[in-house]
Amino acid sequence: MPKKKVEAKEELRTGVIYCGDNLDVMERLPTESIDLIYIDPPFFSNRHYEVIWGNGAELRAFGDRWKGGVNVYVQWMRERLMEMHRLLKPTGSIYVHLDWHAVHYIKCEMDDIFGMGNFRNEIIWCYRGAGYPKKDFGRRHDNILRYSKSDDYIFNLDDVREEYAEATKERFKHYIGNVRGGKDFGLQTLHPLGKQPDDWWQIQPIAPSAKARLGYPTQKPEELLERIIKASSNEGDIVADFFMGGGTTIVVAERLGRRWIGCDVSPIACKLARRRVKKLIKDEREIEVIGMPHDLDELKKMEPFEFQNHIIVDMLHGTCSRTKSADYGIDGHDFGHNPVQIKQSEHVGRPVVQKFESAIRREKRTKGIIVAFSFSKTAYEEVARIKLDEGIEIELRTVQELLQDYYRRMGRK
Ligand SMILES: C[S@@+](CC[C@H](N)C(=O)[O-])C[C@H]1O[C@@H](n2cnc3c(N)ncnc32)[C@H](O)[C@@H]1O
Repeated sequence: MPKKKVEAKEELRTGVIYCGDNLDVMERLPTESIDLIYIDPPFFSNRHYEVIWGNGAELRAFGDRWKGGVNVYVQWMRERLMEMHRLLKPTGSIYVHLDWHAVHYIKCEMDDIFGMGNFRNEIIWCYRGAGYPKKDFGRRHDNILRYSKSDDYIFNLDDVREEYAEATKERFKHYIGNVRGGKDFGLQTLHPLGKQPDDWWQIQPIAPSAKARLGYPTQKPEELLERIIKASSNEGDIVADFFMGGGTTIVVAERLGRRWIGCDVSPIACKLARRRVKKLIKDEREIEVIGMPHDLDELKKMEPFEFQNHIIVDMLHGTCSRTKSADYGIDGHDFGHNPVQIKQSEHVGRPVVQKFESAIRREKRTKGIIVAFSFSKTAYEEVARIKLDEGIEIELRTVQELLQDYYRRMGRK
Protein backbone atom coordinates (compact mmCIF):
# COMPACT_ATOMS: atom_id res chain seq x y z
CA MET A 1 0.00 0.00 0.00
CA PRO A 2 1.19 3.54 -0.72
CA LYS A 3 3.19 5.54 1.79
CA LYS A 4 1.60 8.69 3.18
CA LYS A 5 2.87 11.74 1.30
CA VAL A 6 3.54 15.22 2.59
CA GLU A 7 0.43 17.36 2.14
CA ALA A 8 0.58 19.40 -1.07
CA LYS A 9 0.30 23.16 -0.86
CA GLU A 10 -1.32 24.44 -4.04
CA GLU A 11 -5.03 24.99 -4.31
CA LEU A 12 -6.69 22.91 -6.97
CA ARG A 13 -7.38 24.81 -10.15
CA THR A 14 -9.61 23.44 -12.86
CA GLY A 15 -9.95 24.32 -16.55
CA VAL A 16 -6.15 24.49 -16.77
CA ILE A 17 -3.49 22.50 -18.57
CA TYR A 18 -0.18 21.74 -16.91
CA CYS A 19 2.83 21.35 -19.18
CA GLY A 20 5.39 19.23 -17.39
CA ASP A 21 6.21 15.84 -15.94
CA ASN A 22 3.02 14.68 -14.31
CA LEU A 23 4.86 13.47 -11.21
CA ASP A 24 6.02 17.02 -10.43
CA VAL A 25 2.58 18.41 -11.22
CA MET A 26 0.68 15.88 -9.12
CA GLU A 27 2.93 16.35 -6.12
CA ARG A 28 1.72 19.94 -5.93
CA LEU A 29 -1.99 19.10 -5.98
CA PRO A 30 -4.12 18.59 -2.87
CA THR A 31 -5.03 15.18 -1.50
CA GLU A 32 -8.49 13.71 -2.21
CA SER A 33 -9.50 16.45 -4.63
CA ILE A 34 -10.29 14.63 -7.88
CA ASP A 35 -13.34 12.53 -8.77
CA LEU A 36 -12.13 10.69 -11.83
CA ILE A 37 -8.74 10.03 -13.40
CA TYR A 38 -8.30 8.56 -16.88
CA ILE A 39 -4.76 7.92 -18.10
CA ASP A 40 -3.42 6.56 -21.34
CA PRO A 41 0.32 6.42 -20.63
CA PRO A 42 2.93 5.58 -23.24
CA PHE A 43 2.94 1.81 -23.49
CA PHE A 44 6.06 -0.06 -22.55
CA SER A 45 7.39 -1.52 -25.77
CA ASN A 46 10.66 -2.46 -27.34
CA ARG A 47 10.50 0.41 -29.76
CA HIS A 48 13.03 2.99 -28.70
CA TYR A 49 10.87 5.85 -29.71
CA GLU A 50 7.36 7.09 -29.43
CA VAL A 51 5.58 8.66 -32.32
CA ILE A 52 4.13 11.84 -30.95
CA TRP A 53 3.03 13.31 -34.24
CA GLY A 54 1.53 11.54 -37.25
CA ASN A 55 4.40 12.20 -39.58
CA GLY A 56 7.04 9.47 -39.60
CA ALA A 57 9.82 12.03 -39.71
CA GLU A 58 8.55 13.70 -36.60
CA LEU A 59 9.64 11.02 -34.22
CA ARG A 60 10.32 12.12 -30.76
CA ALA A 61 13.33 10.14 -29.71
CA PHE A 62 13.19 8.85 -26.21
CA GLY A 63 16.50 7.09 -26.65
CA ASP A 64 16.94 4.54 -23.92
CA ARG A 65 14.01 5.55 -21.82
CA TRP A 66 13.10 1.98 -20.93
CA LYS A 67 16.62 0.61 -21.19
CA GLY A 68 16.38 -1.29 -17.93
CA GLY A 69 13.42 -3.25 -19.31
CA VAL A 70 9.92 -3.58 -18.01
CA ASN A 71 10.95 -3.12 -14.37
CA VAL A 72 12.07 0.42 -15.09
CA TYR A 73 8.73 1.14 -16.71
CA VAL A 74 6.79 -0.40 -13.85
CA GLN A 75 8.69 1.63 -11.27
CA TRP A 76 8.17 4.79 -13.32
CA MET A 77 4.44 4.08 -13.47
CA ARG A 78 4.19 3.04 -9.84
CA GLU A 79 5.37 6.41 -8.53
CA ARG A 80 2.73 8.12 -10.63
CA LEU A 81 -0.07 5.71 -9.78
CA MET A 82 0.62 6.27 -6.09
CA GLU A 83 0.19 9.99 -6.56
CA MET A 84 -3.06 9.38 -8.42
CA HIS A 85 -4.30 7.26 -5.55
CA ARG A 86 -3.56 10.12 -3.17
CA LEU A 87 -5.35 12.63 -5.38
CA LEU A 88 -8.58 10.68 -5.79
CA LYS A 89 -11.52 11.43 -3.53
CA PRO A 90 -12.81 8.46 -1.51
CA THR A 91 -15.71 8.16 -3.99
CA GLY A 92 -13.38 8.49 -7.00
CA SER A 93 -12.34 6.10 -9.74
CA ILE A 94 -9.38 5.64 -12.03
CA TYR A 95 -9.20 4.13 -15.53
CA VAL A 96 -5.73 3.07 -16.69
CA HIS A 97 -5.58 2.49 -20.42
CA LEU A 98 -2.91 -0.06 -21.47
CA ASP A 99 -2.29 -2.85 -23.94
CA TRP A 100 -0.75 -6.32 -23.90
CA HIS A 101 2.77 -4.96 -23.42
CA ALA A 102 2.33 -3.83 -19.85
CA VAL A 103 -1.18 -4.53 -18.60
CA HIS A 104 -0.26 -7.57 -16.51
CA TYR A 105 2.57 -5.83 -14.77
CA ILE A 106 0.54 -2.71 -14.07
CA LYS A 107 -2.43 -4.76 -12.83
CA CYS A 108 -0.19 -6.13 -10.03
CA GLU A 109 0.90 -2.59 -9.12
CA MET A 110 -2.67 -1.34 -9.14
CA ASP A 111 -3.78 -4.20 -6.89
CA ASP A 112 -1.05 -3.25 -4.48
CA ILE A 113 -1.73 0.49 -4.55
CA PHE A 114 -5.55 0.53 -4.73
CA GLY A 115 -6.21 -2.84 -3.08
CA MET A 116 -7.44 -5.95 -4.92
CA GLY A 117 -10.92 -5.40 -3.54
CA ASN A 118 -11.16 -2.09 -5.37
CA PHE A 119 -10.51 -3.62 -8.76
CA ARG A 120 -13.79 -3.12 -10.61
CA ASN A 121 -13.29 -4.14 -14.25
CA GLU A 122 -10.81 -4.91 -16.92
CA ILE A 123 -12.47 -3.30 -19.91
CA ILE A 124 -11.49 -4.76 -23.24
CA TRP A 125 -11.70 -2.17 -25.95
CA CYS A 126 -12.02 -4.11 -29.23
CA TYR A 127 -11.54 -2.60 -32.64
CA ARG A 128 -10.78 -3.46 -36.23
CA GLY A 129 -7.63 -2.35 -37.97
CA ALA A 130 -5.15 -3.11 -40.71
CA GLY A 131 -2.12 -5.40 -40.58
CA TYR A 132 -1.79 -8.86 -39.05
CA PRO A 133 1.24 -10.62 -37.54
CA LYS A 134 2.34 -13.59 -39.71
CA LYS A 135 2.30 -16.30 -37.04
CA ASP A 136 0.03 -14.89 -34.35
CA PHE A 137 -3.59 -13.96 -33.89
CA GLY A 138 -4.35 -10.35 -34.70
CA ARG A 139 -3.95 -8.04 -31.72
CA ARG A 140 -7.15 -6.08 -31.78
CA HIS A 141 -7.84 -4.80 -28.30
CA ASP A 142 -6.60 -2.52 -25.55
CA ASN A 143 -7.09 -3.12 -21.84
CA ILE A 144 -8.50 -0.52 -19.50
CA LEU A 145 -8.11 -1.25 -15.78
CA ARG A 146 -10.83 0.33 -13.69
CA TYR A 147 -10.37 0.77 -9.94
CA SER A 148 -12.31 2.66 -7.32
CA LYS A 149 -10.72 4.27 -4.30
CA SER A 150 -13.20 2.65 -1.92
CA ASP A 151 -16.42 0.60 -1.90
CA ASP A 152 -18.51 3.73 -2.06
CA TYR A 153 -17.85 4.97 -5.59
CA ILE A 154 -19.76 6.82 -8.30
CA PHE A 155 -21.24 4.60 -11.00
CA ASN A 156 -24.04 6.01 -13.16
CA LEU A 157 -25.27 2.88 -14.87
CA ASP A 158 -28.37 4.47 -16.37
CA ASP A 159 -26.25 7.09 -18.16
CA VAL A 160 -24.32 4.51 -20.12
CA ARG A 161 -26.89 1.91 -21.03
CA GLU A 162 -26.77 0.66 -24.61
CA GLU A 163 -29.46 0.01 -27.20
CA TYR A 164 -30.68 -3.58 -27.14
CA ALA A 165 -29.78 -5.67 -30.18
CA GLU A 166 -32.59 -5.79 -32.78
CA ALA A 167 -33.18 -9.51 -32.19
CA THR A 168 -33.50 -8.96 -28.43
CA LYS A 169 -35.90 -6.08 -28.94
CA GLU A 170 -38.05 -8.19 -31.23
CA ARG A 171 -38.07 -11.16 -28.89
CA PHE A 172 -38.91 -9.17 -25.77
CA LYS A 173 -40.83 -6.29 -27.34
CA HIS A 174 -43.73 -6.73 -24.95
CA TYR A 175 -41.51 -6.16 -21.98
CA ILE A 176 -39.01 -3.51 -23.00
CA GLY A 177 -40.32 -0.14 -22.05
CA ASN A 178 -43.28 -1.63 -20.20
CA VAL A 179 -41.58 -3.25 -17.30
CA ARG A 180 -40.45 -0.86 -14.61
CA GLY A 181 -37.34 -1.97 -12.86
CA GLY A 182 -36.71 -4.74 -15.39
CA LYS A 183 -37.48 -8.38 -15.58
CA ASP A 184 -34.97 -11.15 -15.42
CA PHE A 185 -35.12 -13.54 -18.37
CA GLY A 186 -32.11 -15.54 -17.38
CA LEU A 187 -30.13 -14.17 -20.30
CA GLN A 188 -30.08 -10.65 -19.01
CA THR A 189 -32.27 -8.19 -17.22
CA LEU A 190 -34.31 -6.18 -19.67
CA HIS A 191 -34.46 -2.63 -18.54
CA PRO A 192 -36.51 0.13 -20.11
CA LEU A 193 -33.48 2.41 -20.35
CA GLY A 194 -31.36 -0.08 -22.30
CA LYS A 195 -28.87 -2.84 -21.83
CA GLN A 196 -26.19 -2.79 -19.15
CA PRO A 197 -22.85 -2.55 -20.97
CA ASP A 198 -20.46 -5.48 -20.72
CA ASP A 199 -16.78 -5.20 -20.01
CA TRP A 200 -15.87 -5.43 -23.68
CA TRP A 201 -16.56 -2.39 -25.77
CA GLN A 202 -16.66 -2.23 -29.52
CA ILE A 203 -15.74 1.30 -30.44
CA GLN A 204 -13.92 2.08 -33.64
CA PRO A 205 -10.57 3.84 -33.22
CA ILE A 206 -10.09 7.05 -35.18
CA ALA A 207 -9.09 6.11 -38.72
CA PRO A 208 -5.88 7.75 -39.98
CA SER A 209 -7.91 9.62 -42.61
CA ALA A 210 -10.78 10.66 -40.30
CA LYS A 211 -11.70 14.31 -39.99
CA ALA A 212 -11.54 14.08 -36.19
CA ARG A 213 -7.91 12.89 -36.33
CA LEU A 214 -5.50 15.58 -35.16
CA GLY A 215 -2.30 13.98 -36.39
CA TYR A 216 -1.84 12.40 -32.99
CA PRO A 217 -1.44 8.66 -33.59
CA THR A 218 -2.41 7.66 -30.07
CA GLN A 219 -5.53 9.86 -30.06
CA LYS A 220 -8.47 8.02 -28.50
CA PRO A 221 -12.06 8.25 -29.74
CA GLU A 222 -14.32 10.65 -27.87
CA GLU A 223 -16.97 7.92 -27.60
CA LEU A 224 -14.66 5.90 -25.36
CA LEU A 225 -14.06 8.81 -23.00
CA GLU A 226 -17.71 9.74 -23.05
CA ARG A 227 -18.72 6.39 -21.62
CA ILE A 228 -16.02 6.50 -18.94
CA ILE A 229 -16.80 10.05 -17.85
CA LYS A 230 -20.57 9.55 -17.82
CA ALA A 231 -20.28 6.31 -15.85
CA SER A 232 -17.84 7.48 -13.21
CA SER A 233 -18.52 11.18 -12.62
CA ASN A 234 -21.39 13.60 -12.21
CA GLU A 235 -21.86 17.04 -13.68
CA GLY A 236 -19.56 19.55 -11.98
CA ASP A 237 -17.17 16.80 -10.81
CA ILE A 238 -13.44 17.04 -11.44
CA VAL A 239 -11.94 14.84 -14.14
CA ALA A 240 -8.17 14.67 -14.67
CA ASP A 241 -5.94 13.23 -17.36
CA PHE A 242 -2.23 13.30 -16.50
CA PHE A 243 -1.10 11.84 -19.85
CA MET A 244 -3.41 14.08 -21.79
CA GLY A 245 -1.96 13.90 -25.32
CA GLY A 246 -4.21 15.73 -27.76
CA GLY A 247 -6.76 16.39 -25.02
CA THR A 248 -9.58 13.94 -25.76
CA THR A 249 -10.44 13.57 -22.06
CA ILE A 250 -10.59 17.27 -21.25
CA VAL A 251 -12.61 18.06 -24.36
CA VAL A 252 -15.21 15.41 -23.55
CA ALA A 253 -15.23 16.44 -19.87
CA GLU A 254 -15.88 20.05 -20.89
CA ARG A 255 -18.66 19.01 -23.25
CA LEU A 256 -20.30 16.91 -20.51
CA GLY A 257 -20.25 19.75 -17.98
CA ARG A 258 -17.45 18.40 -15.80
CA ARG A 259 -14.56 20.45 -14.45
CA TRP A 260 -11.19 19.17 -15.64
CA ILE A 261 -7.40 19.24 -15.35
CA GLY A 262 -5.04 18.22 -18.16
CA CYS A 263 -1.31 17.53 -18.00
CA ASP A 264 1.27 16.52 -20.57
CA VAL A 265 5.02 16.74 -20.72
CA SER A 266 4.90 17.73 -24.38
CA PRO A 267 4.38 21.44 -25.17
CA ILE A 268 3.00 20.43 -28.57
CA ALA A 269 0.37 18.24 -26.94
CA CYS A 270 -0.54 21.03 -24.49
CA LYS A 271 -0.99 23.56 -27.26
CA LEU A 272 -3.04 21.17 -29.32
CA ALA A 273 -5.29 20.28 -26.39
CA ARG A 274 -5.73 23.94 -25.51
CA ARG A 275 -6.73 24.73 -29.08
CA ARG A 276 -9.25 21.89 -29.05
CA VAL A 277 -10.93 23.11 -25.87
CA LYS A 278 -10.92 26.73 -27.06
CA LYS A 279 -12.67 25.64 -30.24
CA LEU A 280 -15.31 23.82 -28.23
CA ILE A 281 -16.00 26.75 -25.90
CA LYS A 282 -15.87 29.18 -28.83
CA ASP A 283 -13.08 31.18 -27.17
CA GLU A 284 -15.34 32.31 -24.38
CA ARG A 285 -12.85 31.56 -21.60
CA GLU A 286 -9.08 31.79 -21.33
CA ILE A 287 -7.47 28.38 -21.00
CA GLU A 288 -4.18 28.71 -19.19
CA VAL A 289 -1.27 26.39 -19.91
CA ILE A 290 0.85 26.37 -16.78
CA GLY A 291 4.56 25.61 -17.09
CA MET A 292 5.19 26.01 -20.80
CA PRO A 293 8.96 25.99 -21.15
CA HIS A 294 9.97 29.56 -21.74
CA ASP A 295 13.32 30.15 -20.17
CA LEU A 296 16.61 29.40 -21.85
CA ASP A 297 17.59 26.48 -19.66
CA GLU A 298 14.27 24.77 -20.24
CA LEU A 299 14.52 25.34 -23.99
CA LYS A 300 18.01 23.84 -24.04
CA LYS A 301 16.67 20.68 -22.43
CA MET A 302 13.73 20.26 -24.79
CA GLU A 303 13.51 17.34 -27.19
CA PRO A 304 14.88 18.52 -30.58
CA PHE A 305 11.58 18.26 -32.40
CA GLU A 306 9.67 19.95 -29.59
CA PHE A 307 12.25 22.73 -29.59
CA GLN A 308 12.07 23.20 -33.33
CA ASN A 309 8.30 23.25 -33.29
CA HIS A 310 8.15 25.67 -30.38
CA ILE A 311 10.50 28.15 -32.08
CA ILE A 312 8.97 27.98 -35.54
CA VAL A 313 5.30 27.77 -34.66
CA ASP A 314 5.09 29.87 -31.47
CA MET A 315 7.80 32.40 -31.95
CA LEU A 316 7.98 32.85 -35.70
CA HIS A 317 4.33 31.97 -36.37
CA GLY A 318 5.48 29.72 -39.17
CA THR A 319 5.14 26.10 -40.16
CA CYS A 320 7.46 23.13 -39.68
CA SER A 321 8.79 21.09 -42.59
CA ARG A 322 6.79 17.97 -43.19
CA THR A 323 9.66 15.57 -43.73
CA LYS A 324 13.06 15.76 -42.22
CA SER A 325 14.73 13.75 -44.96
CA ALA A 326 13.49 16.09 -47.68
CA ASP A 327 14.25 19.44 -46.10
CA TYR A 328 18.02 19.64 -46.80
CA GLY A 329 18.68 21.85 -43.83
CA ILE A 330 15.39 23.73 -43.82
CA ASP A 331 13.38 23.01 -40.68
CA GLY A 332 10.41 25.13 -41.62
CA HIS A 333 9.22 28.48 -42.89
CA ASP A 334 8.41 31.68 -41.10
CA PHE A 335 5.21 33.67 -41.40
CA GLY A 336 6.40 35.15 -44.71
CA HIS A 337 7.33 31.69 -46.11
CA ASN A 338 11.07 32.33 -45.78
CA PRO A 339 13.17 29.24 -44.97
CA VAL A 340 14.12 28.73 -41.33
CA GLN A 341 16.85 26.63 -39.84
CA ILE A 342 16.90 25.84 -36.15
CA LYS A 343 20.04 24.87 -34.25
CA GLN A 344 19.67 23.85 -30.62
CA SER A 345 23.33 24.73 -30.02
CA GLU A 346 25.81 27.51 -29.23
CA HIS A 347 28.52 29.11 -31.41
CA VAL A 348 26.97 28.26 -34.75
CA GLY A 349 29.57 29.15 -37.36
CA ARG A 350 30.31 29.74 -41.04
CA PRO A 351 29.69 26.18 -42.40
CA VAL A 352 26.07 26.25 -41.21
CA VAL A 353 25.51 29.63 -42.87
CA GLN A 354 27.05 28.44 -46.14
CA LYS A 355 24.91 25.30 -46.25
CA PHE A 356 21.83 27.32 -45.47
CA GLU A 357 22.59 29.73 -48.29
CA SER A 358 22.49 26.80 -50.76
CA ALA A 359 19.18 25.68 -49.26
CA ILE A 360 17.71 29.16 -49.74
CA ARG A 361 18.83 29.16 -53.36
CA ARG A 362 17.28 25.76 -53.98
CA GLU A 363 13.98 27.20 -52.78
CA LYS A 364 14.52 30.22 -55.06
CA ARG A 365 14.17 32.61 -52.16
CA THR A 366 16.29 35.60 -51.21
CA LYS A 367 15.77 35.61 -47.46
CA GLY A 368 16.08 33.15 -44.60
CA ILE A 369 16.51 32.89 -40.82
CA ILE A 370 18.83 30.78 -38.71
CA VAL A 371 17.97 30.47 -35.03
CA ALA A 372 20.53 29.27 -32.46
CA PHE A 373 21.57 29.93 -28.86
CA SER A 374 24.60 31.88 -30.12
CA PHE A 375 26.64 32.46 -33.28
CA SER A 376 30.37 32.75 -33.81
CA LYS A 377 31.98 35.82 -35.38
CA THR A 378 32.59 33.86 -38.60
CA ALA A 379 28.84 33.32 -38.99
CA TYR A 380 28.15 37.08 -38.91
CA GLU A 381 31.01 37.70 -41.36
CA GLU A 382 29.66 35.09 -43.76
CA VAL A 383 26.17 36.58 -43.59
CA ALA A 384 27.60 40.01 -44.50
CA ARG A 385 29.57 38.55 -47.42
CA ILE A 386 26.58 36.64 -48.79
CA LYS A 387 24.44 39.74 -48.69
CA LEU A 388 27.02 41.79 -50.51
CA ASP A 389 28.07 39.22 -53.11
CA GLU A 390 24.90 37.25 -53.66
CA GLY A 391 22.11 39.57 -52.56
CA ILE A 392 20.75 36.91 -50.19
CA GLU A 393 19.70 38.11 -46.76
CA ILE A 394 20.23 35.71 -43.88
CA GLU A 395 19.07 36.80 -40.46
CA LEU A 396 20.83 35.31 -37.43
CA ARG A 397 18.47 35.31 -34.45
CA THR A 398 19.38 34.09 -31.00
CA VAL A 399 16.82 32.20 -28.96
CA GLN A 400 17.23 34.87 -26.27
CA GLU A 401 16.12 37.63 -28.66
CA LEU A 402 13.14 35.59 -29.77
CA LEU A 403 12.22 34.94 -26.15
CA GLN A 404 12.33 38.65 -25.36
CA ASP A 405 10.01 39.41 -28.30
CA TYR A 406 7.77 36.62 -27.22
CA TYR A 407 7.49 37.86 -23.63
CA ARG A 408 6.88 41.39 -24.87
CA ARG A 409 4.00 40.14 -26.99
CA MET A 410 2.61 38.16 -24.07
CA GLY A 411 2.90 41.20 -21.82
CA ARG A 412 5.53 39.63 -19.55
CA LYS A 413 8.97 40.91 -18.52
C1 LIG B 1 -0.65 7.70 -25.50
S1 LIG B 1 -0.49 9.44 -25.43
C2 LIG B 1 -2.06 10.00 -24.83
C3 LIG B 1 -3.08 10.17 -25.94
C4 LIG B 1 -4.41 10.74 -25.46
N1 LIG B 1 -5.17 9.78 -24.70
C5 LIG B 1 -5.27 11.26 -26.62
O1 LIG B 1 -6.41 10.82 -26.81
O2 LIG B 1 -4.76 12.10 -27.38
C6 LIG B 1 0.58 9.56 -24.04
C7 LIG B 1 0.98 10.98 -23.69
O3 LIG B 1 1.68 10.94 -22.45
C8 LIG B 1 2.61 12.01 -22.47
N2 LIG B 1 3.62 11.76 -21.43
C9 LIG B 1 4.64 10.89 -21.44
N3 LIG B 1 5.34 10.96 -20.29
C10 LIG B 1 4.75 11.92 -19.53
C11 LIG B 1 4.99 12.47 -18.24
N4 LIG B 1 6.00 12.02 -17.49
N5 LIG B 1 4.19 13.45 -17.78
C12 LIG B 1 3.15 13.90 -18.53
N6 LIG B 1 2.86 13.41 -19.76
C13 LIG B 1 3.64 12.44 -20.26
C14 LIG B 1 3.16 12.01 -23.88
O4 LIG B 1 3.72 13.27 -24.21
C15 LIG B 1 1.89 11.68 -24.68
O5 LIG B 1 1.27 12.86 -25.14
